[in-house]
Amino acid sequence: MNALLGIDIGTSGTKTLAIDPSGRILADSLKTYPCHVPKPLWSEQDPEDWWQATIASVREVVVKAGLKPADVKAIGLSGQMHGSVFLDKRGQIVRRAILWNDQRTAAECREIEERAGGRKKLLRMVANPAMTGFTAPKILWLRNHEPKNFERTAKVLLPKDEIRRRLTGELATEVSDASGMLLLDVAKRTWSKKLLSALELDPGLLATVYESEQVTGKLTAAAAETLGLSTDCAVVGGAGDCAAGAVGNGIVNKGLLSTSIGTSGVMFVHSDEVKIDPKGRIHTFCHAVRGKWHMMGVNLSAGGSLQWFRNQLCKADMAAAGLASQEVYDILTDEAARAPAGCDGLFFLPYLSGERTPHADPHARGCFIGLTLAHTRAHLLRAIMEGVAYSMRDSLEIIEELEVPVRQIRASGGGSRSPFWRQIQADVFGRKVVTINTEEGPAFGVALLAAVGAGEYKNIQEACAATVHVERETGVRRVDKKRYDQAFPVYQRLYHSLKDDFKAIAALDN
Ligand code: XUL
Repeated sequence: MNALLGIDIGTSGTKTLAIDPSGRILADSLKTYPCHVPKPLWSEQDPEDWWQATIASVREVVVKAGLKPADVKAIGLSGQMHGSVFLDKRGQIVRRAILWNDQRTAAECREIEERAGGRKKLLRMVANPAMTGFTAPKILWLRNHEPKNFERTAKVLLPKDEIRRRLTGELATEVSDASGMLLLDVAKRTWSKKLLSALELDPGLLATVYESEQVTGKLTAAAAETLGLSTDCAVVGGAGDCAAGAVGNGIVNKGLLSTSIGTSGVMFVHSDEVKIDPKGRIHTFCHAVRGKWHMMGVNLSAGGSLQWFRNQLCKADMAAAGLASQEVYDILTDEAARAPAGCDGLFFLPYLSGERTPHADPHARGCFIGLTLAHTRAHLLRAIMEGVAYSMRDSLEIIEELEVPVRQIRASGGGSRSPFWRQIQADVFGRKVVTINTEEGPAFGVALLAAVGAGEYKNIQEACAATVHVERETGVRRVDKKRYDQAFPVYQRLYHSLKDDFKAIAALDN
């Protein structure tokens, strides 16, 4: 049997998936690990946890699917983007990795803009402005705050590329994830010598860049033995989790856009050309499709907002759901559906971890605004779901403003599994949303890239055409759309009314 593996190094855990060349799922496994928050708004993980989760999940998948070592022809790697793994010259980890949702680098973002000669010049070099989550500001933070660790650092890798190093011994990355380091000339798909020199960073710190379906190496004897695989197994470039998830949704052609509600919310559109938002509100990155790009907006607390509410205010429901073997989110969604569209004037700003798109503001805070005595918990729940959909509409409007064509919107991620949340998205966007035949996300996308690398398909478009198709449609309900159209400008204004206060609150924290 020919099998392909997709391994996704996520923030809450590592998911491994085995498929056959037709895209049929043979087995999957998820192994979780902790996220460390040493200070408010900091976020770190131990790369050794990712590796142990990779070993455990691959072994489990091999057993569950009954695979022999020679069956697995190729592996695709995906992972949380932007995280920085600092390695010394002997390949030892220098400190815990700093993650995508860490907000400690506001000063370094300013430093990058200054050193680049201003935002416009920076956009020209790397297509994006400096954002706190990106990798380059983290490298500068290390230089500014932990100089001894910086001196020891010989290489900086992204999370999935650290796993590649342990699998193949190669120091390699690929264009989609490399774009989020803020050191790649996104238009040319190579490292930006200009920015590296302005930042006084040694290009030797960075890995070799490949296209996503290219083979970057084969398993070492030690890795093959540990995982129960063969040294003939190739490891392809893979993709950052956003591009990988988009590939898994078949977003590999002009006109296709995906919305994904996981911990973060991602609005991702394929583009045949490089289009740069002059205001830097959405990201322009290389796509995992050779010679193509994508634009995306990222909301840092999408599903994460509902998860926060569940953890803090729904303990009894969680216990009851456990007893009834029910999914607590189903109970909460049913409750939310009891409140009307627009929540009788209640708004939720989903900025629990600051916000990236469109505000790029690490100080932004989550808020409920408009509470009255008439509001119930159902209103609070629905307001969270509506607030997340509004935050994604912000990205959609920027994409439309840049005249990137959008023919079809595909909803994905844990949040979109709920028909109720999908309906809210359709009504808030004012556009039909569709769902596809798979819900496997980034691990599926990179398993397809592995299939291309193994020669099963000519290119990723062909792989997606053979394995991904639309299954369901959610149409727009006119009355609710009208309500949301009236409420959306209010939602947008609220951030602007509050942004100075968010800054003042952050100053109180210090
Ligand atoms: C993308 C981003 C997040 C992480 C989450 O820019 O920061 O979606 O990749 O895994």
